[in-house]
Amino acid sequence: MSAAADFLKGRLAGARPIVAMVLGSGLGDLAEWVEIAARIPFAEIPGFPQSSVSGHAGEILLGRLAGREVLIVSGRVHYYERGDAAAMRPVIEAIAGLGIGRLLLTNSAGSVRQDIPPGSVMIIEDHIAFSGMNPLIGEASDARFVGMTSAYDPDLRAGLAAAAETLGEPVFGGVYMWFSGPSFETPAEIRMARLLGADAVGMSTVPETILARFFGLKVVAASVITNFGAGMTGAELSHAETKEMAPRGGARLSRIVETMLQEGAFDD
Ligand code: HPA
Repeated sequence: MSAAADFLKGRLAGARPIVAMVLGSGLGDLAEWVEIAARIPFAEIPGFPQSSVSGHAGEILLGRLAGREVLIVSGRVHYYERGDAAAMRPVIEAIAGLGIGRLLLTNSAGSVRQDIPPGSVMIIEDHIAFSGMNPLIGEASDARFVGMTSAYDPDLRAGLAAAAETLGEPVFGGVYMWFSGPSFETPAEIRMARLLGADAVGMSTVPETILARFFGLKVVAASVITNFGAGMTGAELSHAETKEMAPRGGARLSRIVETMLQEGAFDD
Protein backbone atom coordinates (compact mmCIF):
# COMPACT_ATOMS: atom_id res chain seq x y z
CA MET A 1 0.00 0.00 0.00
CA SER A 2 1.31 3.50 -0.82
CA ALA A 3 2.19 5.83 2.05
CA ALA A 4 -0.76 8.02 1.01
CA ALA A 5 -3.22 5.10 1.14
CA ASP A 6 -1.83 4.11 4.54
CA PHE A 7 -2.24 7.67 5.81
CA LEU A 8 -5.80 7.97 4.43
CA LYS A 9 -6.75 4.59 5.85
CA GLY A 10 -6.07 5.97 9.32
CA ARG A 11 -8.37 8.92 8.60
CA LEU A 12 -11.18 6.70 7.27
CA ALA A 13 -11.80 5.44 10.79
CA GLY A 14 -13.32 2.20 9.52
CA ALA A 15 -15.49 3.80 6.80
CA ARG A 16 -15.53 2.02 3.44
CA PRO A 17 -16.27 4.47 0.60
CA ILE A 18 -17.90 2.78 -2.40
CA VAL A 19 -16.79 5.39 -4.90
CA ALA A 20 -14.18 8.13 -5.27
CA MET A 21 -15.13 11.26 -7.17
CA VAL A 22 -12.78 13.78 -8.80
CA LEU A 23 -14.54 17.13 -9.10
CA GLY A 24 -13.41 19.47 -11.86
CA SER A 25 -13.12 23.27 -12.03
CA GLY A 26 -16.28 24.98 -10.81
CA LEU A 27 -17.89 21.58 -10.11
CA GLY A 28 -17.22 21.53 -6.39
CA ASP A 29 -20.79 22.08 -5.24
CA LEU A 30 -21.39 18.35 -4.87
CA ALA A 31 -18.84 18.51 -2.05
CA GLU A 32 -21.12 20.92 -0.22
CA TRP A 33 -23.85 18.30 -0.07
CA VAL A 34 -21.63 15.72 1.60
CA GLU A 35 -21.95 15.12 5.35
CA ILE A 36 -18.27 15.56 5.92
CA ALA A 37 -16.46 13.29 8.38
CA ALA A 38 -12.92 14.43 7.48
CA ARG A 39 -11.36 17.10 5.29
CA ILE A 40 -7.69 16.58 4.41
CA PRO A 41 -5.66 19.07 2.29
CA PHE A 42 -3.43 17.46 -0.37
CA ALA A 43 -0.48 19.14 1.38
CA GLU A 44 -0.92 16.84 4.42
CA ILE A 45 -0.98 13.62 2.39
CA PRO A 46 2.39 11.97 1.66
CA GLY A 47 3.32 12.25 -2.03
CA PHE A 48 0.17 14.07 -3.13
CA PRO A 49 0.59 16.72 -5.87
CA GLN A 50 -0.06 20.43 -5.45
CA SER A 51 -2.39 22.18 -7.89
CA SER A 52 -1.71 25.69 -9.13
CA VAL A 53 -5.05 26.29 -10.85
CA SER A 54 -7.46 28.85 -9.41
CA GLY A 55 -10.77 27.19 -8.66
CA HIS A 56 -9.05 23.91 -7.71
CA ALA A 57 -8.80 23.61 -3.91
CA GLY A 58 -6.81 20.36 -3.60
CA GLU A 59 -8.32 18.40 -0.73
CA ILE A 60 -9.79 15.01 0.06
CA LEU A 61 -13.20 14.87 1.71
CA LEU A 62 -14.49 11.77 3.44
CA GLY A 63 -18.15 11.57 4.25
CA ARG A 64 -21.64 10.46 3.30
CA LEU A 65 -23.83 11.40 0.37
CA ALA A 66 -27.25 9.85 -0.27
CA GLY A 67 -26.55 7.55 2.68
CA ARG A 68 -23.39 6.12 1.11
CA GLU A 69 -19.79 6.55 2.12
CA VAL A 70 -17.85 8.46 -0.50
CA LEU A 71 -14.38 9.91 -0.99
CA ILE A 72 -14.23 13.22 -2.83
CA VAL A 73 -11.13 14.55 -4.55
CA SER A 74 -11.80 18.26 -4.76
CA GLY A 75 -9.33 19.85 -7.14
CA ARG A 76 -7.07 17.95 -9.49
CA VAL A 77 -3.63 18.44 -10.96
CA HIS A 78 -3.43 18.81 -14.73
CA TYR A 79 -0.84 17.71 -17.25
CA TYR A 80 -0.28 21.31 -18.29
CA GLU A 81 0.84 22.40 -14.83
CA ARG A 82 4.23 20.68 -15.05
CA GLY A 83 4.13 18.61 -18.21
CA ASP A 84 3.60 15.52 -16.08
CA ALA A 85 0.83 13.24 -17.39
CA ALA A 86 1.20 11.08 -14.26
CA ALA A 87 0.59 14.00 -11.89
CA MET A 88 -2.53 12.35 -10.47
CA ARG A 89 -0.93 8.92 -10.08
CA PRO A 90 -0.46 9.14 -6.29
CA VAL A 91 -4.14 10.08 -5.90
CA ILE A 92 -5.49 7.28 -8.11
CA GLU A 93 -3.06 4.78 -6.59
CA ALA A 94 -4.22 5.72 -3.08
CA ILE A 95 -7.88 5.29 -4.06
CA ALA A 96 -7.12 1.82 -5.41
CA GLY A 97 -4.98 1.05 -2.33
CA LEU A 98 -7.95 1.83 -0.08
CA GLY A 99 -9.98 -0.81 -1.92
CA ILE A 100 -12.36 1.72 -3.51
CA GLY A 101 -13.24 0.06 -6.80
CA ARG A 102 -15.03 2.87 -8.64
CA LEU A 103 -13.97 6.30 -9.82
CA LEU A 104 -16.23 9.07 -11.07
CA LEU A 105 -14.42 11.84 -12.98
CA THR A 106 -15.97 15.20 -13.80
CA ASN A 107 -14.63 18.04 -15.89
CA SER A 108 -15.52 21.22 -17.72
CA ALA A 109 -15.25 20.99 -21.47
CA GLY A 110 -15.85 22.86 -24.67
CA SER A 111 -18.44 21.55 -27.12
CA VAL A 112 -17.52 20.98 -30.74
CA ARG A 113 -21.16 20.35 -31.69
CA GLN A 114 -23.78 23.01 -32.32
CA ASP A 115 -26.43 20.72 -30.83
CA ILE A 116 -24.60 20.36 -27.47
CA PRO A 117 -24.85 23.87 -25.98
CA PRO A 118 -23.18 25.34 -22.88
CA GLY A 119 -24.88 24.08 -19.72
CA SER A 120 -25.20 20.54 -21.12
CA VAL A 121 -24.00 17.42 -19.34
CA MET A 122 -22.17 14.86 -21.50
CA ILE A 123 -21.50 11.29 -20.38
CA ILE A 124 -18.06 10.35 -21.71
CA GLU A 125 -18.42 7.18 -23.79
CA ASP A 126 -14.88 7.11 -25.12
CA HIS A 127 -11.87 9.40 -25.49
CA ILE A 128 -9.11 10.45 -27.85
CA ALA A 129 -5.76 11.12 -26.17
CA PHE A 130 -4.86 13.81 -28.67
CA SER A 131 -2.07 15.28 -26.51
CA GLY A 132 -0.07 12.16 -27.39
CA MET A 133 1.00 11.88 -23.75
CA ASN A 134 0.43 8.86 -21.57
CA PRO A 135 0.79 8.62 -17.77
CA LEU A 136 2.13 5.06 -18.00
CA ILE A 137 5.26 5.99 -19.96
CA GLY A 138 8.19 4.69 -17.91
CA GLU A 139 6.12 2.01 -16.17
CA ALA A 140 8.30 -1.08 -16.36
CA SER A 141 5.99 -4.09 -16.11
CA ASP A 142 3.73 -5.67 -18.75
CA ALA A 143 0.83 -4.27 -16.73
CA ARG A 144 1.47 -1.03 -18.65
CA PHE A 145 -0.28 -2.46 -21.71
CA VAL A 146 -3.72 -1.54 -20.41
CA GLY A 147 -6.78 -2.45 -22.49
CA MET A 148 -8.94 0.60 -23.19
CA THR A 149 -11.81 -1.00 -25.13
CA SER A 150 -14.30 -0.43 -22.30
CA ALA A 151 -12.39 2.26 -20.43
CA TYR A 152 -15.65 3.96 -19.43
CA ASP A 153 -17.60 1.23 -17.67
CA PRO A 154 -20.83 0.42 -19.58
CA ASP A 155 -22.81 -0.44 -16.41
CA LEU A 156 -21.81 2.73 -14.58
CA ARG A 157 -22.57 4.79 -17.72
CA ALA A 158 -26.01 3.18 -17.83
CA GLY A 159 -26.44 4.03 -14.14
CA LEU A 160 -25.59 7.68 -14.83
CA ALA A 161 -28.01 7.81 -17.77
CA ALA A 162 -30.74 6.13 -15.68
CA ALA A 163 -30.32 8.68 -12.87
CA ALA A 164 -30.60 11.54 -15.39
CA GLU A 165 -33.74 9.92 -16.77
CA THR A 166 -35.24 9.67 -13.27
CA LEU A 167 -34.71 13.40 -12.86
CA GLY A 168 -35.95 14.21 -16.35
CA GLU A 169 -32.56 15.81 -17.08
CA PRO A 170 -31.40 15.57 -20.70
CA VAL A 171 -27.84 14.26 -21.08
CA PHE A 172 -25.69 13.67 -24.12
CA GLY A 173 -23.22 10.87 -24.71
CA GLY A 174 -20.02 11.53 -26.58
CA VAL A 175 -16.29 11.35 -27.18
CA TYR A 176 -13.94 13.58 -25.15
CA MET A 177 -10.74 14.68 -26.84
CA TRP A 178 -7.82 15.52 -24.55
CA PHE A 179 -5.75 18.55 -25.54
CA SER A 180 -2.74 19.34 -23.37
CA GLY A 181 -3.69 22.99 -22.76
CA PRO A 182 -3.23 25.35 -21.07
CA SER A 183 -3.92 27.55 -24.10
CA PHE A 184 -7.35 26.91 -25.55
CA GLU A 185 -7.71 25.34 -28.99
CA THR A 186 -7.68 27.32 -32.21
CA PRO A 187 -10.74 27.34 -34.49
CA ALA A 188 -8.82 25.03 -36.89
CA GLU A 189 -8.16 22.58 -34.04
CA ILE A 190 -11.86 22.56 -33.15
CA ARG A 191 -12.76 21.80 -36.78
CA MET A 192 -10.16 19.00 -36.71
CA ALA A 193 -11.57 17.62 -33.45
CA ARG A 194 -15.04 17.44 -34.99
CA LEU A 195 -13.68 15.72 -38.13
CA LEU A 196 -11.83 13.17 -36.01
CA GLY A 197 -14.94 12.18 -34.07
CA ALA A 198 -14.83 14.30 -30.92
CA ASP A 199 -17.93 15.77 -29.31
CA ALA A 200 -16.15 17.77 -26.60
CA VAL A 201 -12.61 18.97 -25.90
CA GLY A 202 -10.84 19.46 -22.59
CA MET A 203 -7.57 19.44 -20.69
CA SER A 204 -8.01 16.68 -18.09
CA THR A 205 -9.61 13.32 -17.26
CA VAL A 206 -7.95 11.14 -19.92
CA PRO A 207 -4.70 10.55 -17.97
CA GLU A 208 -6.77 9.82 -14.86
CA THR A 209 -8.86 7.27 -16.75
CA ILE A 210 -5.72 5.54 -18.05
CA LEU A 211 -4.22 5.46 -14.54
CA ALA A 212 -7.50 4.22 -13.05
CA ARG A 213 -7.69 1.36 -15.56
CA PHE A 214 -4.05 0.53 -14.79
CA PHE A 215 -4.91 0.29 -11.08
CA GLY A 216 -8.04 -1.77 -11.83
CA LEU A 217 -10.72 0.81 -11.03
CA LYS A 218 -14.01 1.04 -12.91
CA VAL A 219 -14.42 4.51 -14.39
CA VAL A 220 -17.41 6.69 -15.17
CA ALA A 221 -16.90 10.25 -16.38
CA ALA A 222 -19.01 13.25 -17.33
CA SER A 223 -18.32 16.68 -18.79
CA VAL A 224 -20.14 19.89 -18.05
CA ILE A 225 -20.11 21.91 -21.26
CA THR A 226 -19.11 25.47 -20.40
CA ASN A 227 -18.68 26.90 -23.90
CA PHE A 228 -18.70 26.23 -27.60
CA GLY A 229 -15.24 25.43 -28.96
CA ALA A 230 -13.04 28.20 -30.35
CA GLY A 231 -14.35 29.75 -33.54
CA MET A 232 -17.89 28.41 -33.17
CA THR A 233 -19.33 31.71 -31.94
CA GLY A 234 -16.65 34.33 -32.61
CA ALA A 235 -16.22 34.94 -28.85
CA GLU A 236 -12.79 34.65 -27.19
CA LEU A 237 -12.49 31.81 -24.65
CA SER A 238 -11.33 32.33 -21.07
CA HIS A 239 -10.89 30.47 -17.80
CA ALA A 240 -13.11 33.10 -16.17
CA GLU A 241 -15.93 31.94 -18.45
CA THR A 242 -15.25 28.29 -17.53
CA LYS A 243 -15.46 29.12 -13.83
CA GLU A 244 -18.61 31.19 -14.31
CA MET A 245 -20.43 28.65 -16.47
CA ALA A 246 -19.37 25.40 -14.77
CA PRO A 247 -21.58 25.72 -11.68
CA ARG A 248 -24.72 25.99 -13.86
CA GLY A 249 -24.36 22.59 -15.55
CA GLY A 250 -22.46 21.46 -12.46
CA ALA A 251 -25.53 21.75 -10.24
CA ARG A 252 -27.42 19.47 -12.64
CA LEU A 253 -24.57 16.98 -12.77
CA SER A 254 -24.40 16.99 -8.96
CA ARG A 255 -28.09 16.08 -8.70
CA ILE A 256 -27.64 13.31 -11.25
CA VAL A 257 -24.70 11.88 -9.31
CA GLU A 258 -26.61 12.07 -6.02
CA THR A 259 -29.52 10.23 -7.65
CA MET A 260 -27.12 7.68 -9.08
CA LEU A 261 -25.90 6.98 -5.53
CA GLN A 262 -29.48 6.82 -4.24
CA GLU A 263 -30.42 4.35 -6.96
CA GLY A 264 -27.58 2.08 -5.89
CA ALA A 265 -25.53 2.34 -9.08
CA PHE A 266 -22.29 2.36 -7.03
CA ASP A 267 -23.34 -0.24 -4.45
CA ASP A 268 -21.32 -3.44 -4.08
N1 HPA B 1 -11.28 23.74 -24.43
C1 HPA B 1 -10.53 23.04 -23.57
N2 HPA B 1 -10.83 22.89 -22.29
C2 HPA B 1 -11.95 23.48 -21.86
C3 HPA B 1 -12.79 24.22 -22.70
C4 HPA B 1 -12.43 24.35 -24.07
O1 HPA B 1 -13.12 25.00 -24.88
N3 HPA B 1 -13.82 24.68 -21.93
C5 HPA B 1 -13.61 24.20 -20.68
N4 HPA B 1 -12.50 23.48 -20.62
